Amino acid sequence: QRLPELLRAMPKAELHMHIEGSLEPELIFALARRNGLSVPYADVEALREAYAFTNLQSFLDIYYAGASVLLTEQDFYDMAWAYLQRAAADNVVHTEMFFDPQTHTARGVAMETVINGLHRACVDARARLGVSALLILCFLRHLSEREAFETLEQALPLRDKFIGVGLDSSELGHPPEKFAQVFARCRELGLRLVAHAGEEGPPAYVWSALDVLKVERIDHGVQSVKDPALMKRLAQDRIPLTVCPLSNLKLCVFEQLSQHNLGALLDAGLVATVNSDDPAYFGGYVNQNFTQTFAATGLGARQAWQLAANSFEGSFIDASAKRAYM
Ligand code: HPA
Ligand code: ZN
Repeated sequence: QRLPELLRAMPKAELHMHIEGSLEPELIFALARRNGLSVPYADVEALREAYAFTNLQSFLDIYYAGASVLLTEQDFYDMAWAYLQRAAADNVVHTEMFFDPQTHTARGVAMETVINGLHRACVDARARLGVSALLILCFLRHLSEREAFETLEQALPLRDKFIGVGLDSSELGHPPEKFAQVFARCRELGLRLVAHAGEEGPPAYVWSALDVLKVERIDHGVQSVKDPALMKRLAQDRIPLTVCPLSNLKLCVFEQLSQHNLGALLDAGLVATVNSDDPAYFGGYVNQNFTQTFAATGLGARQAWQLAANSFEGSFIDASAKRAYM
């Protein structure tokens, strides 16, 4: 009983959470009602029953459908506020939230509606919850690099409301180098850079995220264990991996949680962290990711402290604030 209590109580940072993936079925129905939209499921239970995934794509189809109930700035605020309250309850003191603007702008929602709603929740989180919250804009990798450039252009008037950019959506067939030019531009602009790589995709995608996109963190990265030279690179350069165990289980990256390689990543000296990815869809917020993974794999207090320290080391908070947490 002491280990789960430690896992829940320890202050932590969450570095890999898609805010659209925090939309609980109850909130999907409430927002649909508020906006006069219909949901193609009878009720909350029927929607939740549809959350049976076989791979990343089978999840993304239902995740993008769920996000289509978001229309107004208040909708984006309410979604982010619901997540931030849960994060605070899990003793998350700092969070870096991904958002997918193209999912919304493609439906005619303005970029400023999305960013202003999310940002207002971040401001309130600091004042009312004592949680620091930052935003990372993700480009959808199944769309073109030209569309990513258009998205960047639309977001630049709101440049002070997000700290960096990421790359998410369907990985296989969409390698990082497809976005070389837009990431180079973001780098010139002083944005922080991250990318999903090595979730379902091969170690080669992690290499090109590092060497072509020049990202500072790898989201997921669990396939890196297949390449010893890559493991050495990640350890030497202290490149954080934002690992999401319950996501990996639900998307069948690992058949069982007991087979998860989090322990192996830590043993190899990598800056691995534990995160929730899309908590409303994968069955748990960050503390559930910690407690279930530790119970299944037999990790202990030493790894708990290491993961908490890694979460702050890997974050984009400034160096002096980081040292205060570590
Ligand atoms: N992988 C890729 N894209 C995503 C994910 C993920 O785990 N979650 C939301 N968008
Ligand atoms: Zn993700």
